[in-house]
Amino acid sequence: ERHSQILPRRKLGRSRENIPSLKATPSFRISFIQTELPDYYAPWMNVAANLPHLIEGHQLRREVAKMPLLSTQYLRGHRQLRLARLALGFITMGYVWQGGGRQTVKILPRALAVPYCTISELLDLPPILVYADCVLANWKKRDPCGYVENLDILFSFPGGDSNKGFFLVSLLVEAAAAAGIKAIPIIVNAILHHGLCSLETALQDVALSICKMREAFKLIHVWERPCNCFLLHVFGTSWKDNFLMPEGLVYEGVWDSPKQFFGGSAAQSSTLQCFDVLLGIQHSAAQEYLGCMRDYMPAAHRAFIQTLASGPSLRQFVLATGDAGLHAAFNKCVSALADLRSYHIQIATKYITIPAGRCRAEQQQLGGCVHKGTSVLSERGTGGTGFMRFLKAIRDTTRKAQLTEQEATVPTH
Ligand code: HEM
Repeated sequence: ERHSQILPRRKLGRSRENIPSLKATPSFRISFIQTELPDYYAPWMNVAANLPHLIEGHQLRREVAKMPLLSTQYLRGHRQLRLARLALGFITMGYVWQGGGRQTVKILPRALAVPYCTISELLDLPPILVYADCVLANWKKRDPCGYVENLDILFSFPGGDSNKGFFLVSLLVEAAAAAGIKAIPIIVNAILHHGLCSLETALQDVALSICKMREAFKLIHVWERPCNCFLLHVFGTSWKDNFLMPEGLVYEGVWDSPKQFFGGSAAQSSTLQCFDVLLGIQHSAAQEYLGCMRDYMPAAHRAFIQTLASGPSLRQFVLATGDAGLHAAFNKCVSALADLRSYHIQIATKYITIPAGRCRAEQQQLGGCVHKGTSVLSERGTGGTGFMRFLKAIRDTTRKAQLTEQEATVPTH
């Protein structure tokens, strides 16, 4: 990600210097993480660090009520802003969903809402916890020289090690995508300069990187317990199109009327959208939701995807060359992406569908009403089709993007 050390006090996201050219690929996670803020911000950091304990003891809302209204003027640079946003985002999600689907709130108190919205505006992100917060900015190395075993998260929700499973595995999947993302400017350059050899190599890098994303995904089984992962998702629930909060949330001291925002989801990751755009894959019905998720990505990621989308078509170029090697390399990328999405469906089944069904059955057996959070989750962002059908449709469209023999023999101009 691009970092600006001294932030101008204006909206960052749309400024020209923030739009990356495809020559300089942004790495999609923060490479050196900020773990501390100036002492002045101890009231935020202490609450965020104690979140699981405060939520489980139903004390969080009381603690937030005691929080002072702090100024954001002592935050220096992009990383401090990201860390402050991360802390306030975790507190906000905990505050709203402390009672699960019960006792929902309508108002986010001023001491939380005002600084959260100020920082979010500076970063051009919506004031709700997004994937770029809880995955891309929520990690540290215990030993600066170590790798995976030394990774830890900064903040978590109740659910113990499941937090690590979900956040760190997602981070490792992103890290595996880095080589593929870095190959994109090489691909665009090769198309522009007709460099068939370098194009084929770069496509092989993309395919390999997507295969490595799938390998990294498998680590989920080491850390994750299905019931906890499902619980974790409750803290990512939206206040948009959510019957538990039909009007949304009032950000006290910021806007008079309630606002609606989608909750955090890995659908806000830029990596798969980058590969979709690169390979010319369009998801028809799902595209609206996926397009909407771009507003929940950091501005530099969003701009990178837009720039890529407005560039030359890789698909058309590969077809026009009639080169069998390029054709095969392109199709390898497509099948690796479809396989990754199939694996993702397996994960979603194991860690969401099955525990959610079990949770519903248990609640019915106990004669209670079904926890409303479960149905909110199953419909999120999917236009009421249920997320499984949604994920499968996206996987199937990906698979269909393979270049066929027939296409390859028809001249494209
Ligand atoms: C670790 C456990 C994970 C679970 C249980 C899970 C579950 C889900 C669910 C339920 C959706 C449906 C839409 C929504 O909720 O917004 C979704 C969408 C999506 N997820 Fe995940 N996810 C996980 C990890 C990841 C990771 C690590 C990535 C990639 C970096 C990822 C990428 C996506 C994408 C891109 C979508 C949108 C659909 C698509 O483009 O295929 N997910 N996920």
